Amino acid sequence: MSDQKIIKGGTIVTTEREFVGDVLISGETIQAVGVDLDAPGAEVIDASGAYVMPGGIDPHTHMELPFMGTVASEDFFTGTSAAVAGGTTSIIDFVIPAPQERILDAYNKWRGWAEKAAADYSFHVAITWWDDSVHADMKTLTEEHGVNSFKHFMAYKGAIMCDDEVLVNSFSRAKELGALCTVHAENGELVYRLQEQVYNAGFHGPEGHPLSRPPEVEGEAANRAIRIAEVLGVPLYLVHTSCIDALEAVTRARLEGQRVFAEVLAQHLVIDDSVYRNTDWAAAAHYVMSPPFRSKEHQSALWQGLQSGMLQTTATDHCCFCTDQKAMGREDFRKIPNGTGGVEDRMSVLWHHGVRSGKLTPSEFVAVTSTNTARIFNIHPKKGSLAPGADADIVIWDPNKTRTLSKDTHHQNVDFNIYEGMEVTGAAAITISRGSVVWKDGQLHTVRGAGKHIERPCFPQYWDSQLKRNEFGKSTPVKRD
Ligand code: URP
Ligand code: ZN
Ligand code: ZN
Repeated sequence: MSDQKIIKGGTIVTTEREFVGDVLISGETIQAVGVDLDAPGAEVIDASGAYVMPGGIDPHTHMELPFMGTVASEDFFTGTSAAVAGGTTSIIDFVIPAPQERILDAYNKWRGWAEKAAADYSFHVAITWWDDSVHADMKTLTEEHGVNSFKHFMAYKGAIMCDDEVLVNSFSRAKELGALCTVHAENGELVYRLQEQVYNAGFHGPEGHPLSRPPEVEGEAANRAIRIAEVLGVPLYLVHTSCIDALEAVTRARLEGQRVFAEVLAQHLVIDDSVYRNTDWAAAAHYVMSPPFRSKEHQSALWQGLQSGMLQTTATDHCCFCTDQKAMGREDFRKIPNGTGGVEDRMSVLWHHGVRSGKLTPSEFVAVTSTNTARIFNIHPKKGSLAPGADADIVIWDPNKTRTLSKDTHHQNVDFNIYEGMEVTGAAAITISRGSVVWKDGQLHTVRGAGKHIERPCFPQYWDSQLKRNEFGKSTPVKRD
């Protein structure tokens, strides 16, 4: 029996082109892309009337993360299954070592958890503390395990927060290794102080959460991380950019030629901070995540950032906690586990609110949901492309399919949906993961453990073009008697 499949007659969309054609798949790999391809014996998948695009890549998820005294409800199997139902075929998750835990031990632990994944995955590794073992393990991770990005939480004081000393140590080491630094930009000291003030002022419910994490707190940390990266000459990637203050920092740096990348979450683009004022405690607590949802003016700016290329990637920060887990903070918003879901809905939300509104073209949609992430994290063209030799990670997208996002119909392992009731047009009709059909006709066909780890080599090519404003090599010491 042939192990070939041919996707016929769809509109093929990449970041470069849009044309009606065919995609021939052999086993796990794309063999050819063209017009009127012939493949006798191949299984034919009719894509007429649909778009054929690279499968989505979500660069920011947290499956089964131990966090704030509980564990995220979505595991690597349920989470990657939900992802493919929405057209996302790869995720980049996070290894988050506890302070003092060997980062290599944590990495191995997460790799074990991820063995159940149904689609491909990779890992950023968080640097949550510093000593010689961290310095050594960063090298091992880059050289032996295909890790090319390290994450730094500038918030979550008393838990996983990095201070400036750790940031400087880690950024310097990343530069030596040719790795990319990523940051969660919020000033954790300020958050801690504001949380106390807000709580003591009588705000104990979810409405206290955004009050304790205003945009300035994110803007300060974004600026600080960008300046530290500039001085050290290392590229930087900001996760979940949520506000004008952080976007301005990114924009300034990029206009000065600094290699700074930034991600936006689908949910920050379409949900605003009014959710925290819901009089139903649980309904408001469902939205407690950091950075919090912002006012509409920030949303407009984020869309503009995405359209102008200042924000290059879209993600979900998929980190699910069920209602009973959120209830850990019933009396004190500071104890509500931070995180929201959405790995299944990102592509539809972006298609509906982005492409259908005219803000993004289909090619730009491919860029911000897949290809840019593959390029930035150095897995392109194996991932994020439709080209001979690439992994056959493909979504056949029905631009006319309308669905109502809901906990009753989603595949995510969480008992609510932050987009509950939102009607969106545009959905994955068929999802193919490394050559296997994993989603079709509203049915999942995922296999536990079928996902593979994606190695991401380091990229010394980034270093040469770093802004060298603070280079002292061109100066000479002053001679004195
Ligand atoms: O609230 C969030 N975002 N939870 C997950 C951890 C993080 O900050 O990314
Ligand atoms: Zn974060
Ligand atoms: Zn996160």
